[in-house]
Amino acid sequence: MRLVTSIDEMRRLCKAIRCEAEHQTLALIPTMGALHEGHLSLIRAARKSPDRVAASIFVNPLQFGPNEDLSKYPRTFEEDCAMLEREGVDLLFTPTVEEMYPAGTQTWVDVPEIGGRLDGASRPGHFRGVATVVTKLFHIVQPDRAFFGQKDAAQVAILQAMVRDLNFDLEIVVCPTIRDEDGLALSSRNRYLTAEERKRALVLSRSLRKVERAVAEGQHAASPLYDLLLQELQTADGIRLDYAEIVDPQTLEPLNDVICGALVAVAAWVGTTRLIDNILITPRKASVC
Ligand code: PAJ
Repeated sequence: MRLVTSIDEMRRLCKAIRCEAEHQTLALIPTMGALHEGHLSLIRAARKSPDRVAASIFVNPLQFGPNEDLSKYPRTFEEDCAMLEREGVDLLFTPTVEEMYPAGTQTWVDVPEIGGRLDGASRPGHFRGVATVVTKLFHIVQPDRAFFGQKDAAQVAILQAMVRDLNFDLEIVVCPTIRDEDGLALSSRNRYLTAEERKRALVLSRSLRKVERAVAEGQHAASPLYDLLLQELQTADGIRLDYAEIVDPQTLEPLNDVICGALVAVAAWVGTTRLIDNILITPRKASVC
């Protein structure tokens, strides 16, 4: 695995890969490090095809609000490198903040409508930071395919809209959420949780499973499903709900029913840690959707 910190060198190496063989494609997996099985599942998905694989580790200051956890965001660089090496990553891009945002940087990429919903409503400016850094990574690497996790469903919606609107010549591949055996969605932020908080955090996946079950039993109206979601979330002590929503997976607009598919998404504070989780409800009646 080649470690690269300079944008120029990363560009040169990616270009060389693209020119090496006619049918060789390049995959990109952007991350902020503190890697876990969720991140590794994206690398493994990329390696299923004959792609060469580039990953990035960059804790992007642009996507953190002034009172968020940028300075204490977990950084486990040595372990991350060892994991990526084991998974057969070809290139690892780890630029510094100065390399990515030299003095005088002033251009943003904003997807204002979708970017203001779900996490974008609770974390103003967050998705503008995500869209800007991912645009830069796409330009530097010019991948054929870029892999993202369904765990960050709003992020996926924003990046898909951005790729469509700005005509990026690449495919976004979305991979399922990886969970611990007890249902907790893996997250770099889970390491902030105490044992007690981790137990409380299980209410997120539990509430989503309840909704999933009700849909399977034939409940398609959003309102009773929403009540069920809130009812379950309110059973837990010591968590503070940020949002619970049933929305269209692409536009993130609230839905009246889940017949044509839906994203059920929740965010909550467990102690001082903000966690998110979601499930996708697949369309019931493809013919009317
Ligand atoms: P980060 O939180 O490190 O996540 C990197 C990628 O891993 C994202 O696509 C995320 O959805 C995916 N991921 C995280 N937990 C997962 C899980 N339990 N199962 C499956 N995939 C999971 O998301 C970011 O970084 C940043 O916003 C980034 C896109 C890198 C831009 O800075």
